[in-house]
Amino acid sequence: MVTRINPSILAADFANLESEFGRISSADLAHVDVMDNHFVPNLTLGLPIVERLLQVSAIPLDIHLMIEDPDRWAPAYAEAGAYSVTFHAEAAADAVGLARRLRQIGARAGIALKPGTPVEPYLELLAEFDQVLVMTVEPGFGGQSFLASTMPKLSVLADAVRASGLDVWLQVDGGITEDTIVQAAEAGADTFVAGSSVFNGNPADRIAALRAAAEAHPHRHG
Ligand code: DX5
Ligand code: ZN
Repeated sequence: MVTRINPSILAADFANLESEFGRISSADLAHVDVMDNHFVPNLTLGLPIVERLLQVSAIPLDIHLMIEDPDRWAPAYAEAGAYSVTFHAEAAADAVGLARRLRQIGARAGIALKPGTPVEPYLELLAEFDQVLVMTVEPGFGGQSFLASTMPKLSVLADAVRASGLDVWLQVDGGITEDTIVQAAEAGADTFVAGSSVFNGNPADRIAALRAAAEAHPHRHG
């Protein structure tokens, strides 16, 4: 199984983003958290900054939209050249329609679930998505503690993806460290977002350590 480590630039130095990208060149994708102060109680950055980041990043961008009305705003991120665009299930009016639009534009389509959002309604719809993001903290802020209570949901999803034979990436985001990544890998995640645990150290070393920890604990099928 392929392991992907996606550093979240929410924990990077916002005054020096171009050089921060230089420090994560061994990562698979760079995770960019877009927050609108409505869907979550925090405000980060939007399309004009993402457009510039796409120009300076050597690795593809994984956009995580924590915004209201993604049906209206998400396609522009795909048009700008984002590799993947993930919107929240709780915010989308027409998740399948939006995912189809994102794919048509040429991006990978992702759907994100807050910790309390059940996965069951989406198990039948896996073919519509390229990745599912299981939030392992309440979205809105970096540096929170991993919620192990989300792991059963991830296992259900991993079993469904395996049974389907589809190549749907399973992403976790929030509180991922060298310790918690083990639980997430065993439960079936293959794509790991990490903010503070990457940027609070030497990013290249942290990325390598996270990757090694995940790869040492492959998915245990339920
Ligand atoms: C939280 C964001 C995360 C955040 C993770 O709402 O979606 O991507 O940056 O940060 P850490 O890894 O510090 O929990
Ligand atoms: Zn995120």
